[in-house]
Amino acid sequence: MSEARADAKRAAALRAVELVRSGMVVGLGTGSTAWFAVQEIGRRLAANELRDIVGIPTSRATRDHAEAVGIRLGTLEDRPFVDLTIDGADEIDPKGNLIKGHGGALLWEKIVATASRKLVIVADPSKLVLRLGISRALPVEVATFGWGTHLAAIRDLGAEPGLRRTASGEPVRTDEGHCILDCQFPAGIEDPGAVERALRSRPGVVETGLFLGFKPEVIVGAG
Ligand code: A5P
Repeated sequence: MSEARADAKRAAALRAVELVRSGMVVGLGTGSTAWFAVQEIGRRLAANELRDIVGIPTSRATRDHAEAVGIRLGTLEDRPFVDLTIDGADEIDPKGNLIKGHGGALLWEKIVATASRKLVIVADPSKLVLRLGISRALPVEVATFGWGTHLAAIRDLGAEPGLRRTASGEPVRTDEGHCILDCQFPAGIEDPGAVERALRSRPGVVETGLFLGFKPEVIVGAG
């Protein structure tokens, strides 16, 4: 990652953390931009600039990071309402609709976003697009059983799906043990709502990386 891009991510994350108040339940996003927010919340807690924060992590990786910087963690069973979530995105369209999940955490991320009173998306300028799917594939989390049955249906939607694999060639497993199909739409996604409905109607499709209608506050940092 270039230094300018890292600076932009950090700047966005620091501005977002200014919205965090003592006593809040805070959703902790996943990815390289949200990482800076977790780091800053930990720093503010250590400096006594914040108190009584309960963090709800959106992945095991974020849970480990948050624990390492001293953020007390809770669960959605204990804290079903989240005051504020700070998370990254892969693409952001002019209406604030998103593609997320290139870090593989889309399922927990969408659950936490749905439980949140306010969603703040932090990003560098490269994430802003006129149409979703134009620069990045759409991640779709599927059950391992029968994952191949989704391929033809995804092609019928105009996308080319690919099973996400590790560097050693094994299928990537999410924190919930599922697989991910990365779906490339050659001209972007013309009707994200229709694609979401079509995918979600299939047994075995657990979640998609389309985050539609969340109306997030979007903070774009400058590098
Ligand atoms: C994680 O699953 C994703 O949704 C991330 O939030 C997204 O990929 C953004 O990541 P970066 O901040 O690393 O670009």
